[in-house]
Amino acid sequence: MKISIIGTGYVGLVSGVGFASKGHDVTCIDIVEEKVDKINRGEPPIYEEGLEELLKDVVSNDRLRATKDTEEAIKETELTFICVGTPSKQDGSVDLSSVEKAVQDMVQPLKEKDEYHVFCVKSTVVPGTTEEKVLPILDRSGKKVGEDFGLGMNPEFLREGIALEDFLNPDRIVLGGWDEKTLEILSKAYEKFEVPKLKTDIKTAEMIKYTSNALLATKISFANEISRICESIGIDVYEVMDGVGLDDRLKRDFLNAGAGFGGSCFPKDVKALVNYAKEKDQETKLLNSVLSINEEQPVHIINRLEYVSEGVKGKKIAFLGLAFKGGTDDVRETRAFPMITRLLELGADVIAYDPEASENFNELLPGKVQYANSREDALEDADICIIQNDWDEFKNLTPKDFGHMKGNIIVDARRVLNREEFTDDFIYIGVGM
Ligand code: UDX
Repeated sequence: MKISIIGTGYVGLVSGVGFASKGHDVTCIDIVEEKVDKINRGEPPIYEEGLEELLKDVVSNDRLRATKDTEEAIKETELTFICVGTPSKQDGSVDLSSVEKAVQDMVQPLKEKDEYHVFCVKSTVVPGTTEEKVLPILDRSGKKVGEDFGLGMNPEFLREGIALEDFLNPDRIVLGGWDEKTLEILSKAYEKFEVPKLKTDIKTAEMIKYTSNALLATKISFANEISRICESIGIDVYEVMDGVGLDDRLKRDFLNAGAGFGGSCFPKDVKALVNYAKEKDQETKLLNSVLSINEEQPVHIINRLEYVSEGVKGKKIAFLGLAFKGGTDDVRETRAFPMITRLLELGADVIAYDPEASENFNELLPGKVQYANSREDALEDADICIIQNDWDEFKNLTPKDFGHMKGNIIVDARRVLNREEFTDDFIYIGVGM
């Protein structure tokens, strides 16, 4: 099939490369010339594991190319995925300006095109958006949905860092379509994926995306709430969740207590759903709690440290892990931000280290934090160490790795260490125990 994809962020580019690797002919569209040039040279403008190799492969086999020319790309393909960003506005609602702009550019080629074309939204949008916001723009072409063109919604469930793997081996594919014809064409694009495919109407597909992310975020806040109860009675929430997760009905995944959820999706999507429900006069007591637990959790961890260390004023704190999770340089909604902000308020002296995210983090708190070039440098003479995320290099560190610290307090906010090894010589504060 000839597929065009508008937006070459991690969703668009990963989907493009994934479709091309399954034998489709893909054209990626972006307004930024530099990104287009890079992609055409086989260099991904973002980092995702395995992406560079596969991009080089599909570019050199001429199965994928990038362009700035939306009109040409629409005319020459039969299916277009809209993969532009949908950030949050100040009030938590979804900012649709990039989607609207992208769709406006499709009106003219649709008008001039004789063949049937399917437009499919992949960007995360609240229920009703595709039919109430995207369709009216396409209608300006004078063409008729269901006759001249099809309309669909196909949510993505890609995790940053392993997005390509998630695209190529999904648990399920959700296809929302205006009519049978749209669904047939969308199914053809995913023909080579042997996984359950759920066909729904467009609004349901939009809602499935929000509901999935809201439930995953709920599992995390639930684990964090239970973790505080476990802390108060001196048992380990990880062991509790291992027991819980053995029940087939209660999957163990996403029940890991930590500093809360960050990233570009969970906080934004839960807020957007809350906001959307409000517009529909519906209460969201559970989701409000999910968000407030997530806000409290980083502060709770610092309060616990303060109690154990009898204050942090003037103490040197080695803060390991600034990205919202290991394996990325992304600092959007990272829990490191509220934690470090609180530490600075309390007068601590923070020296931070992250394998990739220091530069991005410095933009959030310009000049407020010192950065170390290595884990070892950060730990040198530190009174306290806090581990915030789960980078591989933080996993399974041994007491020897902390040998150059002056103090002996370690806060394991993501439970990456083997706690038993630290019981003798360290004061080990593990989340949820
Ligand atoms: C998420 C969804 O998983 C993905 O399906 C969606 O399309 C985009 O959002 P991502 O934001 O990349 O993906 O990261 P994910 O691995 O899901 O983690 C999100 C946050 O939750 C991170 O801050 C992580 O540290 C935290 N988390 C995750 C926990 O605190 N505990 C867990 O058990 C799992």
